[in-house]
Amino acid sequence: MTTLRYATMEDADLLRRCRPELEVTPEAHADWMSRTMTRDKLFVAELGGVAIGTGRISDWPNAALPQSCEIHYALLPGWRHQGHGVALVRALVARAKELGYVTVGAHIRRDNRPSLLCAINGGVNSVELL
Ligand SMILES: CC(C)(COP(=O)(O)OP(=O)(O)OC[C@H]1O[C@@H](n2cnc3c(N)ncnc32)[C@H](O)[C@@H]1OP(=O)(O)O)[C@@H](O)C(=O)NCCC(=O)NCCS
Repeated sequence: MTTLRYATMEDADLLRRCRPELEVTPEAHADWMSRTMTRDKLFVAELGGVAIGTGRISDWPNAALPQSCEIHYALLPGWRHQGHGVALVRALVARAKELGYVTVGAHIRRDNRPSLLCAINGGVNSVELL
């Protein structure tokens, strides 16, 4: 079962390894992380106590959809393409609802088919295509 625990700065390297595509330096990533943690809910996703990825919940101010948030997620490269993405999205949607959000959204590139399928099947209510 995929579970979420709050990330700490000790997870900085782990979270950076979840998004190798971004090619950020460790320093820039740590800076982003410390700023982000004061604003958003930042999580490490675990499967049986083993870290497999990360997730984030941030406010998504939207006059048409009150109490909206946006979720962000990434698996470590070695854990991708094995069906874990949808469980990660489900866990984030459940946590967002526990936190009181009504609408859970995501911004997803239109060519990111795995992410789109995870969002749809994982319970995201609103997808904005990039
Ligand atoms: C996006 C991400 C979380 C998806 O998780 P995942 O476990 O790798 O996803 P899966 O392999 O289970 O694929 C999800 C679905 O996409 C399908 N899929 C996978 N690769 C595909 C491809 N190249 N083309 C079309 N469909 C594909 C799978 O068959 C699956 O469909 P199903 O649920 O109907 O069986 C993960 O790939 C990731 O971390 N990517 C990098 C970060 C990222 O893009 N984050 C999202 C930002 S919006």
